[in-house]
Amino acid sequence: MKGCTVLQHALVQARLATLRNVDAEMETFRRALGQIGLMLLNEALRPLETKIHRVRTPLARTTGHRLRREILLVPILRAGQGLVGLADQLLPEARLGYLGMVRNEATLQPECYLEKLPPRLRRYEVMICDPMLATGGSAVAAGQLLQQRGAERLHFLHALAAPEGVRALRKAFPNEPVYLGAVDERLNENGYIHPGLGDAGDRCFGT
Ligand code: PRP
Ligand code: URA
Repeated sequence: MKGCTVLQHALVQARLATLRNVDAEMETFRRALGQIGLMLLNEALRPLETKIHRVRTPLARTTGHRLRREILLVPILRAGQGLVGLADQLLPEARLGYLGMVRNEATLQPECYLEKLPPRLRRYEVMICDPMLATGGSAVAAGQLLQQRGAERLHFLHALAAPEGVRALRKAFPNEPVYLGAVDERLNENGYIHPGLGDAGDRCFGT
């Protein structure tokens, strides 16, 4: 699907297998999810605009590149926090904003219970981070809220998606880049990704 990148990376697939394993301990799960987050972030940063500036090496004057715009990571709590858990190692200069969303398990609609975002969202490349894109409801709601608050450059990062979620996200955001670790078979009757990995928030942080 246009603008939608599924990372074809052996290490992403290996870490996803770790997450899928029902016997993985919370600590193992959290580390593997953080590592996938780093790889998604690395991919999402690849096409970003840079600007040239002067640098002096010990030997000569030359030029270097720096990112044109600041990066704002927006994990959707709780599970999104697991996806950005190691991001500081790659991008210590990133700002963080938080959205707390929980899916109503009867209606499968997201409910936003927390919003903590910096002002002037226009200036950022905004990375919406949530391991699971199931119905797509949470990601779409997060994207719309961020646009209402002024964000202009959105990027969606998800470890695992259902085809239904990808379609919903594409319909709402046809032009924004989407980065995925894998796309599974389908949603099951309870709105869970199948075969999936279960409840990402619970497995990462406990029930
Ligand atoms: C999970 C996940 C997403 C959402 C995905 O959150 O982290 O935010 O479900 O489902 P959707 O695509 O159908 O909206 P959950 O409601 O389990 O909250 P938690 O992260 O706090 O556990
Ligand atoms: N949320 C999860 O944590 N897992 C799913 O499979 C779907 C939504």
